[in-house]
Amino acid sequence: MKILVTGGAGFIGSNFIRYYLKNHPDDQIINLDKLTYAGNLENLKEVEKNTNYKFVKGDICDFDLVNTLVKEVDTIINFAAETHVDRSIMGSEDFVKTNVEGTRVLLDAAKNNGLKRFHHISTDEVFGSLGQKDAPFNENTPYDPRSPYSAAKAASDHLVRAYFHTFSLPITISNCSNNYGPYQFPEKLIPVFVTNLIEGKKVPVYGDGLNVRDWIFVDDHNRGVDLILHKGKIGETYCLGGKSEKTNLEITNFILNEFGKGEEMIEYVKDRAGHDRRYAINFSKIKKELGWEPQVKFEDGLKQTIEWYKNNQAWWKKIKSGEYKDYYQKQYGPR
Ligand code: NAD
Ligand code: TYD
Repeated sequence: MKILVTGGAGFIGSNFIRYYLKNHPDDQIINLDKLTYAGNLENLKEVEKNTNYKFVKGDICDFDLVNTLVKEVDTIINFAAETHVDRSIMGSEDFVKTNVEGTRVLLDAAKNNGLKRFHHISTDEVFGSLGQKDAPFNENTPYDPRSPYSAAKAASDHLVRAYFHTFSLPITISNCSNNYGPYQFPEKLIPVFVTNLIEGKKVPVYGDGLNVRDWIFVDDHNRGVDLILHKGKIGETYCLGGKSEKTNLEITNFILNEFGKGEEMIEYVKDRAGHDRRYAINFSKIKKELGWEPQVKFEDGLKQTIEWYKNNQAWWKKIKSGEYKDYYQKQYGPR
Protein backbone atom coordinates (compact mmCIF):
# COMPACT_ATOMS: atom_id res chain seq x y z
CA MET A 1 0.00 0.00 0.00
CA LYS A 2 1.00 3.60 -0.59
CA ILE A 3 -0.76 5.75 1.96
CA LEU A 4 -1.25 9.47 2.31
CA VAL A 5 -1.57 9.98 6.06
CA THR A 6 -2.87 13.45 6.95
CA GLY A 7 -2.19 14.98 10.35
CA GLY A 8 0.60 12.48 10.94
CA ALA A 9 2.61 14.88 13.11
CA GLY A 10 -0.10 14.97 15.78
CA PHE A 11 -0.71 12.61 18.67
CA ILE A 12 -2.60 9.68 17.12
CA GLY A 13 -1.24 10.13 13.59
CA SER A 14 2.41 10.01 14.70
CA ASN A 15 1.75 6.94 16.83
CA PHE A 16 0.01 5.41 13.79
CA ILE A 17 2.96 6.07 11.46
CA ARG A 18 5.47 4.55 13.88
CA TYR A 19 3.17 1.56 14.48
CA TYR A 20 2.35 1.06 10.80
CA LEU A 21 5.89 1.19 9.42
CA LYS A 22 6.97 -1.32 12.06
CA ASN A 23 4.19 -3.72 11.11
CA HIS A 24 4.18 -3.16 7.33
CA PRO A 25 7.82 -2.43 6.46
CA ASP A 26 7.18 -2.71 2.69
CA ASP A 27 4.37 -0.15 2.53
CA GLN A 28 4.98 3.54 1.93
CA ILE A 29 3.66 6.55 3.80
CA ILE A 30 3.52 10.21 2.82
CA ASN A 31 2.67 12.35 5.85
CA LEU A 32 0.90 15.63 4.96
CA ASP A 33 0.71 17.93 7.97
CA LYS A 34 0.30 21.68 8.34
CA LEU A 35 2.29 21.67 11.59
CA THR A 36 -0.24 23.71 13.53
CA TYR A 37 0.41 24.19 17.26
CA ALA A 38 -0.48 20.47 17.65
CA GLY A 39 1.88 19.11 14.99
CA ASN A 40 5.41 18.24 16.04
CA LEU A 41 8.05 16.53 13.91
CA GLU A 42 9.88 15.43 17.06
CA ASN A 43 7.12 12.81 17.36
CA LEU A 44 8.51 11.17 14.21
CA LYS A 45 12.29 11.18 14.82
CA GLU A 46 12.22 7.37 14.89
CA VAL A 47 11.05 7.12 11.26
CA GLU A 48 12.40 10.27 9.59
CA LYS A 49 15.24 8.36 7.88
CA ASN A 50 13.03 5.45 6.79
CA THR A 51 13.08 5.38 2.97
CA ASN A 52 9.41 4.36 2.94
CA TYR A 53 8.45 7.55 4.79
CA LYS A 54 8.20 11.09 3.45
CA PHE A 55 7.01 14.27 5.16
CA VAL A 56 5.29 17.12 3.32
CA LYS A 57 4.38 20.33 5.14
CA GLY A 58 1.03 21.57 3.87
CA ASP A 59 -2.64 22.16 4.42
CA ILE A 60 -5.34 19.60 3.59
CA CYS A 61 -7.44 22.55 2.37
CA ASP A 62 -4.89 23.18 -0.44
CA PHE A 63 -6.51 21.32 -3.34
CA ASP A 64 -3.60 21.64 -5.80
CA LEU A 65 -1.13 20.21 -3.30
CA VAL A 66 -3.45 17.40 -2.21
CA ASN A 67 -4.36 16.55 -5.81
CA THR A 68 -0.65 16.22 -6.69
CA LEU A 69 0.19 14.09 -3.65
CA VAL A 70 -2.76 11.79 -4.20
CA LYS A 71 -1.29 10.74 -7.56
CA GLU A 72 1.55 9.05 -5.63
CA VAL A 73 -0.70 6.91 -3.40
CA ASP A 74 -3.61 4.45 -3.48
CA THR A 75 -5.03 5.16 0.00
CA ILE A 76 -5.77 8.15 2.25
CA ILE A 77 -6.10 7.99 6.03
CA ASN A 78 -7.42 11.30 7.32
CA PHE A 79 -6.26 12.06 10.87
CA ALA A 80 -5.81 15.81 10.27
CA ALA A 81 -8.18 17.92 12.33
CA GLU A 82 -8.50 20.63 14.90
CA THR A 83 -9.20 18.47 17.93
CA HIS A 84 -9.52 20.31 21.21
CA VAL A 85 -13.05 21.03 22.46
CA ASP A 86 -11.96 23.98 24.65
CA ARG A 87 -10.28 25.68 21.69
CA SER A 88 -13.41 25.11 19.57
CA ILE A 89 -15.37 27.01 22.22
CA MET A 90 -12.90 29.91 22.04
CA GLY A 91 -13.25 30.04 18.22
CA SER A 92 -14.64 27.59 15.68
CA GLU A 93 -13.27 28.99 12.41
CA ASP A 94 -10.25 26.69 12.08
CA PHE A 95 -12.41 23.73 13.09
CA VAL A 96 -14.84 24.27 10.23
CA LYS A 97 -12.02 25.03 7.77
CA THR A 98 -9.86 22.01 8.49
CA ASN A 99 -12.38 19.43 9.65
CA VAL A 100 -15.09 20.14 7.06
CA GLU A 101 -13.50 21.90 4.07
CA GLY A 102 -10.22 19.98 4.45
CA THR A 103 -12.10 16.67 4.37
CA ARG A 104 -14.05 17.85 1.30
CA VAL A 105 -10.78 18.64 -0.51
CA LEU A 106 -9.34 15.20 0.34
CA LEU A 107 -12.55 13.50 -0.83
CA ASP A 108 -12.55 15.33 -4.16
CA ALA A 109 -8.89 14.52 -4.75
CA ALA A 110 -9.55 10.85 -3.88
CA LYS A 111 -12.56 10.75 -6.20
CA ASN A 112 -10.74 12.44 -9.11
CA ASN A 113 -7.81 10.07 -8.88
CA GLY A 114 -9.68 6.79 -8.32
CA LEU A 115 -8.13 5.92 -4.96
CA LYS A 116 -8.66 2.41 -3.60
CA ARG A 117 -9.55 3.57 -0.09
CA PHE A 118 -10.40 6.66 1.93
CA HIS A 119 -10.34 5.96 5.65
CA HIS A 120 -11.69 8.72 7.86
CA ILE A 121 -10.72 8.96 11.53
CA SER A 122 -13.63 10.18 13.61
CA THR A 123 -14.72 10.37 17.20
CA ASP A 124 -17.48 9.12 19.50
CA GLU A 125 -18.24 12.79 20.32
CA VAL A 126 -20.40 13.06 17.16
CA PHE A 127 -23.07 10.99 18.94
CA GLY A 128 -23.63 13.57 21.69
CA SER A 129 -23.91 13.01 25.41
CA LEU A 130 -25.26 9.99 27.33
CA GLY A 131 -27.10 9.82 30.63
CA GLN A 132 -25.67 7.59 33.33
CA LYS A 133 -27.98 4.67 32.49
CA ASP A 134 -28.12 5.03 28.68
CA ALA A 135 -26.79 2.24 26.46
CA PRO A 136 -23.36 2.99 24.93
CA PHE A 137 -23.10 4.45 21.42
CA ASN A 138 -22.96 2.09 18.46
CA GLU A 139 -22.81 2.50 14.66
CA ASN A 140 -26.58 3.14 14.50
CA THR A 141 -26.75 5.85 17.15
CA PRO A 142 -28.14 9.07 15.62
CA TYR A 143 -25.69 11.96 15.40
CA ASP A 144 -26.19 14.72 18.01
CA PRO A 145 -22.95 16.74 18.21
CA ARG A 146 -22.95 19.46 20.85
CA SER A 147 -19.59 21.27 20.67
CA PRO A 148 -18.18 23.15 17.66
CA TYR A 149 -15.46 20.45 17.53
CA SER A 150 -17.88 17.51 17.42
CA ALA A 151 -20.23 19.38 15.05
CA ALA A 152 -17.38 19.90 12.57
CA LYS A 153 -16.32 16.23 12.90
CA ALA A 154 -19.95 15.14 12.37
CA ALA A 155 -20.16 17.26 9.22
CA SER A 156 -17.00 15.61 7.90
CA ASP A 157 -18.40 12.12 8.60
CA HIS A 158 -21.57 13.00 6.68
CA LEU A 159 -19.52 14.22 3.72
CA VAL A 160 -17.47 11.02 3.69
CA ARG A 161 -20.64 8.89 3.62
CA ALA A 162 -22.17 11.15 0.95
CA TYR A 163 -19.16 10.48 -1.33
CA PHE A 164 -19.69 6.73 -0.84
CA HIS A 165 -23.38 6.86 -1.71
CA THR A 166 -23.16 9.43 -4.50
CA PHE A 167 -19.82 8.61 -6.16
CA SER A 168 -19.12 5.06 -4.90
CA LEU A 169 -15.89 6.32 -3.32
CA PRO A 170 -14.48 3.33 -1.36
CA ILE A 171 -14.63 4.74 2.16
CA THR A 172 -14.49 3.43 5.70
CA ILE A 173 -14.95 5.40 8.93
CA SER A 174 -13.89 4.69 12.51
CA ASN A 175 -15.44 6.48 15.49
CA CYS A 176 -13.17 6.05 18.48
CA SER A 177 -13.39 7.05 22.13
CA ASN A 178 -10.86 9.16 24.11
CA ASN A 179 -7.25 8.17 23.37
CA TYR A 180 -4.31 8.46 25.73
CA GLY A 181 -0.62 7.54 25.44
CA PRO A 182 2.80 9.00 24.57
CA TYR A 183 3.08 12.25 22.57
CA GLN A 184 -0.39 13.57 23.46
CA PHE A 185 -0.34 17.37 23.45
CA PRO A 186 -0.50 18.77 27.00
CA GLU A 187 -3.90 20.41 26.59
CA LYS A 188 -5.95 17.21 26.98
CA LEU A 189 -6.89 15.83 30.39
CA ILE A 190 -4.24 13.16 31.01
CA PRO A 191 -1.13 15.02 29.76
CA VAL A 192 -2.23 18.26 31.46
CA PHE A 193 -2.63 16.47 34.78
CA VAL A 194 0.53 14.38 34.56
CA THR A 195 2.79 17.24 33.46
CA ASN A 196 1.30 19.60 36.05
CA LEU A 197 2.09 17.12 38.81
CA ILE A 198 5.65 16.64 37.56
CA GLU A 199 5.96 20.44 37.76
CA GLY A 200 4.47 20.45 41.28
CA LYS A 201 1.31 22.27 40.13
CA LYS A 202 -2.33 21.53 40.94
CA VAL A 203 -4.66 19.77 38.47
CA PRO A 204 -7.70 21.71 37.17
CA VAL A 205 -10.86 19.56 37.36
CA TYR A 206 -13.81 21.02 35.44
CA GLY A 207 -17.18 21.23 37.23
CA ASP A 208 -17.93 18.35 39.61
CA GLY A 209 -15.43 15.99 37.92
CA LEU A 210 -18.11 13.37 37.33
CA ASN A 211 -18.12 13.48 33.52
CA VAL A 212 -17.41 10.08 32.05
CA ARG A 213 -15.19 9.18 29.11
CA ASP A 214 -14.23 5.76 27.71
CA TRP A 215 -10.42 5.66 27.54
CA ILE A 216 -8.40 3.71 24.98
CA PHE A 217 -4.63 3.32 24.64
CA VAL A 218 -3.53 4.89 21.36
CA ASP A 219 -1.93 1.68 19.99
CA ASP A 220 -5.21 -0.21 20.46
CA HIS A 221 -6.95 2.45 18.35
CA ASN A 222 -4.29 2.30 15.66
CA ARG A 223 -4.36 -1.51 15.54
CA GLY A 224 -8.09 -1.17 14.85
CA VAL A 225 -7.47 1.32 12.04
CA ASP A 226 -4.88 -1.03 10.51
CA LEU A 227 -7.39 -3.90 10.64
CA ILE A 228 -10.18 -1.84 9.07
CA LEU A 229 -7.79 -0.78 6.32
CA HIS A 230 -6.92 -4.36 5.45
CA LYS A 231 -10.12 -6.25 6.28
CA GLY A 232 -12.90 -3.70 6.76
CA LYS A 233 -15.91 -3.61 4.46
CA ILE A 234 -16.19 -0.68 2.05
CA GLY A 235 -18.87 1.84 3.04
CA GLU A 236 -18.91 0.69 6.67
CA THR A 237 -18.43 2.51 9.94
CA TYR A 238 -16.76 0.88 12.94
CA CYS A 239 -16.98 2.08 16.55
CA LEU A 240 -13.86 1.52 18.67
CA GLY A 241 -13.75 1.82 22.45
CA GLY A 242 -11.45 1.03 25.32
CA LYS A 243 -13.82 -0.89 27.64
CA SER A 244 -12.74 1.66 30.31
CA GLU A 245 -15.44 4.09 31.34
CA LYS A 246 -14.06 6.38 34.04
CA THR A 247 -15.16 9.60 35.69
CA ASN A 248 -12.62 12.40 35.52
CA LEU A 249 -12.24 12.18 39.27
CA GLU A 250 -11.41 8.45 39.09
CA ILE A 251 -8.63 9.29 36.65
CA THR A 252 -7.50 12.23 38.74
CA ASN A 253 -7.26 10.09 41.88
CA PHE A 254 -5.38 7.34 40.03
CA ILE A 255 -2.81 9.83 38.72
CA LEU A 256 -2.50 11.60 42.10
CA ASN A 257 -1.89 8.24 43.73
CA GLU A 258 0.90 7.44 41.23
CA PHE A 259 2.59 10.67 42.34
CA GLY A 260 2.01 9.97 46.04
CA LYS A 261 -0.26 13.05 46.22
CA GLY A 262 -3.77 13.58 47.55
CA GLU A 263 -6.83 15.73 47.04
CA GLU A 264 -4.97 18.87 48.13
CA MET A 265 -3.56 18.96 44.59
CA ILE A 266 -7.05 19.21 42.99
CA GLU A 267 -8.34 22.61 41.95
CA TYR A 268 -12.01 22.61 40.96
CA VAL A 269 -12.39 25.16 38.15
CA LYS A 270 -15.30 26.56 36.15
CA ASP A 271 -17.05 23.93 34.05
CA ARG A 272 -16.61 23.77 30.28
CA ALA A 273 -19.54 25.36 28.37
CA GLY A 274 -21.90 22.66 27.04
CA HIS A 275 -19.78 19.97 28.73
CA ASP A 276 -20.90 16.51 27.51
CA ARG A 277 -21.68 14.33 30.50
CA ARG A 278 -20.84 10.84 29.30
CA TYR A 279 -19.42 9.00 26.29
CA ALA A 280 -19.37 5.21 26.02
CA ILE A 281 -18.84 2.82 23.11
CA ASN A 282 -20.27 -0.56 22.19
CA PHE A 283 -17.59 -2.07 19.92
CA SER A 284 -19.31 -5.43 19.31
CA LYS A 285 -19.51 -4.88 15.52
CA ILE A 286 -15.74 -4.69 14.97
CA LYS A 287 -15.22 -7.44 17.54
CA LYS A 288 -17.62 -9.76 15.70
CA GLU A 289 -16.63 -8.88 12.14
CA LEU A 290 -12.87 -8.26 12.44
CA GLY A 291 -11.96 -9.85 15.78
CA TRP A 292 -10.75 -6.55 17.27
CA GLU A 293 -10.90 -5.61 20.92
CA PRO A 294 -8.74 -3.38 23.09
CA GLN A 295 -5.79 -5.19 24.67
CA VAL A 296 -4.21 -2.66 27.02
CA LYS A 297 -5.70 -2.52 30.52
CA PHE A 298 -6.38 1.10 31.47
CA GLU A 299 -4.29 1.00 34.66
CA ASP A 300 -1.29 -0.47 32.77
CA GLY A 301 -1.58 1.96 29.87
CA LEU A 302 -1.90 4.94 32.20
CA LYS A 303 1.14 3.88 34.26
CA GLN A 304 3.13 3.47 31.04
CA THR A 305 1.96 6.90 29.86
CA ILE A 306 2.92 8.58 33.15
CA GLU A 307 6.38 6.99 32.83
CA TRP A 308 6.69 8.33 29.29
CA TYR A 309 5.95 11.90 30.42
CA LYS A 310 8.43 11.53 33.29
CA ASN A 311 11.13 10.30 30.89
CA ASN A 312 10.45 12.78 28.09
CA GLN A 313 10.27 16.09 29.91
CA ALA A 314 12.21 17.97 27.21
CA TRP A 315 9.42 17.13 24.71
CA TRP A 316 6.57 18.69 26.71
CA LYS A 317 8.52 21.39 28.55
CA LYS A 318 9.35 22.98 25.21
CA ILE A 319 5.64 22.99 24.35
CA LYS A 320 4.47 24.25 27.73
CA SER A 321 6.94 27.13 27.77
CA GLY A 322 6.30 28.20 24.16
CA GLU A 323 3.40 29.83 22.36
CA TYR A 324 1.04 27.45 24.11
CA LYS A 325 1.70 29.18 27.43
CA ASP A 326 -0.60 32.04 26.36
CA TYR A 327 -3.42 29.61 25.63
CA TYR A 328 -2.89 27.84 28.92
CA GLN A 329 -3.02 31.09 30.88
CA LYS A 330 -6.16 32.23 29.04
CA GLN A 331 -7.77 28.91 29.88
CA TYR A 332 -6.73 28.51 33.51
CA GLY A 333 -5.45 31.95 34.59
CA PRO A 334 -1.86 32.78 35.54
CA ARG A 335 -0.09 30.24 37.74
P1 NAD B 1 -3.84 16.35 17.32
O1 NAD B 1 -4.49 17.67 17.59
O2 NAD B 1 -2.80 15.84 18.25
O3 NAD B 1 -3.17 16.38 15.87
C1 NAD B 1 -3.79 16.94 14.75
C2 NAD B 1 -2.75 17.02 13.62
O4 NAD B 1 -3.40 17.54 12.45
C3 NAD B 1 -1.58 17.96 13.94
O5 NAD B 1 -0.36 17.36 13.58
C4 NAD B 1 -1.87 19.19 13.07
O6 NAD B 1 -0.70 19.89 12.68
C5 NAD B 1 -2.57 18.55 11.88
N1 NAD B 1 -3.44 19.50 11.15
C6 NAD B 1 -4.36 20.34 11.68
N2 NAD B 1 -4.92 21.08 10.71
C7 NAD B 1 -4.37 20.66 9.53
C8 NAD B 1 -4.55 21.03 8.18
N3 NAD B 1 -5.42 21.98 7.83
N4 NAD B 1 -3.82 20.40 7.24
C9 NAD B 1 -2.90 19.46 7.59
N5 NAD B 1 -2.68 19.06 8.85
C10 NAD B 1 -3.40 19.67 9.82
O7 NAD B 1 -5.04 15.34 17.16
P2 NAD B 1 -5.18 13.81 17.60
O8 NAD B 1 -5.62 13.74 19.00
O9 NAD B 1 -3.98 13.06 17.15
O10 NAD B 1 -6.43 13.38 16.69
C11 NAD B 1 -6.25 12.87 15.37
C12 NAD B 1 -7.60 12.50 14.79
O11 NAD B 1 -8.26 11.55 15.63
C13 NAD B 1 -8.58 13.68 14.67
O12 NAD B 1 -9.28 13.54 13.46
C14 NAD B 1 -9.50 13.51 15.86
O13 NAD B 1 -10.77 14.08 15.61
C15 NAD B 1 -9.56 12.00 15.97
N6 NAD B 1 -9.86 11.46 17.30
C16 NAD B 1 -9.12 11.86 18.39
C17 NAD B 1 -9.38 11.31 19.64
C18 NAD B 1 -8.55 11.69 20.84
O14 NAD B 1 -8.87 11.25 21.95
N7 NAD B 1 -7.48 12.44 20.71
C19 NAD B 1 -10.40 10.37 19.78
C20 NAD B 1 -11.12 9.97 18.65
C21 NAD B 1 -10.84 10.52 17.41
P1 TYD C 1 -10.36 16.29 27.00
O1 TYD C 1 -9.07 15.59 27.24
O2 TYD C 1 -10.33 17.72 26.58
O3 TYD C 1 -11.17 15.41 25.96
P2 TYD C 1 -12.72 15.53 25.44
O4 TYD C 1 -13.33 16.73 26.03
O5 TYD C 1 -12.57 15.64 23.98
O6 TYD C 1 -13.38 14.28 25.89
O7 TYD C 1 -11.22 16.21 28.33
C1 TYD C 1 -11.56 14.96 28.91
C2 TYD C 1 -12.45 15.24 30.10
O8 TYD C 1 -11.66 15.90 31.11
C3 TYD C 1 -13.60 16.19 29.82
O9 TYD C 1 -14.72 15.78 30.61
C4 TYD C 1 -13.11 17.55 30.29
C5 TYD C 1 -12.20 17.19 31.46
N1 TYD C 1 -11.04 18.08 31.69
C6 TYD C 1 -10.79 18.60 32.96
O10 TYD C 1 -11.55 18.35 33.93
N2 TYD C 1 -9.70 19.40 33.14
C7 TYD C 1 -8.84 19.69 32.12
O11 TYD C 1 -7.85 20.44 32.34
C8 TYD C 1 -9.09 19.14 30.82
C9 TYD C 1 -8.17 19.44 29.68
C10 TYD C 1 -10.21 18.33 30.66
